[in-house]
Amino acid sequence: VKNNEITLLDHKFPRDNWTNISENIISKLGRNLHISPYHPLSHIRQRIVNYIYMQFHNRIGNPIFSVFDNISPIVTVAQNFDSLLVPENHPSRKKSDCYYINQNTILRAHTTAHQSELISMGLNNFLIVGDVYRKDEIDSTHYPVFHQADAVRLCTAEEVFQNVDNSNELKLFEHRGMETDEKQGCHALESVKIMEHELKNTLVGLAQTLFGSEIQYRWVQQYFPFTHPSWELEVYYNDQWIEILGCGIMRQEILQKSGAGERIGWAFGLGLERLAMCLYDIPNIRLFWSNDTGFLNQFKVKDPNAAIKYKPISVYPQCKNDISFWLPENKSYSSNDFYDLVRDIGEDRVEQVLLKDEYTHPETKKISHCYTIVYRHMERTLSKRELEKYSRALENANAFSKERISEI
Ligand code: PHE
Repeated sequence: VKNNEITLLDHKFPRDNWTNISENIISKLGRNLHISPYHPLSHIRQRIVNYIYMQFHNRIGNPIFSVFDNISPIVTVAQNFDSLLVPENHPSRKKSDCYYINQNTILRAHTTAHQSELISMGLNNFLIVGDVYRKDEIDSTHYPVFHQADAVRLCTAEEVFQNVDNSNELKLFEHRGMETDEKQGCHALESVKIMEHELKNTLVGLAQTLFGSEIQYRWVQQYFPFTHPSWELEVYYNDQWIEILGCGIMRQEILQKSGAGERIGWAFGLGLERLAMCLYDIPNIRLFWSNDTGFLNQFKVKDPNAAIKYKPISVYPQCKNDISFWLPENKSYSSNDFYDLVRDIGEDRVEQVLLKDEYTHPETKKISHCYTIVYRHMERTLSKRELEKYSRALENANAFSKERISEI
């Protein structure tokens, strides 16, 4: 075992005295909850992407935003901080705040880390969605891995002023201007105001799409090293103001260094968990990492806009048991009959019954079904004896299982 190397997502990285990534964190790499089918975070991602596609399209109706939702979370310190003008001594760089793989490599602390490289590639409108990593407090709303969506939109002067008559006199930039609360030194106030207007309209529209058109909101002045001016959007939900996103006019220096100096840009970043917890009434952030079907199946709907309210599942563990049998040949069989029987016997200890496997015998053409039965007691852990009692009772009662299959 080579201890001076660490393998993450099939790549090897040298360790050094900056390495502070734990096994628990490593185990989260590649889970990609935000693109797992039917996962609540995936529904939220899809809703955000759909909204942005709808808002920004070209003359023939095609979306102009590109979406990147599978970029590796392993980035350089330069990408995560330097490219975004985060000062050398900024607290967010501390070892106690992020997960360093080594001195130069880090698990991204925000999806904003990819902004400048995507701009350098020539992209003007894009979304980045992915997992981000931060050392943080432990409570019901904080977890060291969470998910963000970032957006960037860069515009030429022609685009910014397209709806303005006699726009010839309007400029994006101003020479030797002063930085004020309203704008960066290099920007002309008229271009900043139009971009700010589009940014805020876009984000209020997003909040209304997610929370409903009646949602109360407010803008709060904020500071980010990579935008100026900067704001946070707060919405009033369940009797409190919650911050849902950060945004601003991009620092022109970032655009210049990435080869887009002739444009002006806005950007925003938001966390998916917080939105999902509000929208679905999910009480604890750890639930997103659950493999428990009692959690996951509540979100198993095709439509990402479906109004789902999470119903708490028991804190006691699930116990699973498989049963398989040949289906009757002479009379019709419906899985529902079997489900009924399971409920009869297991009462409300049964949480789910899943058809796990179907098999047709190559010669006799007889069909067999294999079901997984998931039990869970709401007040205590089920004992092994009780489980055995249920499955024996089920085997005896199941008319179809008289010809049992020992092993398929
Ligand atoms: N990266 C910021 C955060 O994680 C959010 C943000 C993105 C703010 C883009 C402004 C512009 O909080």
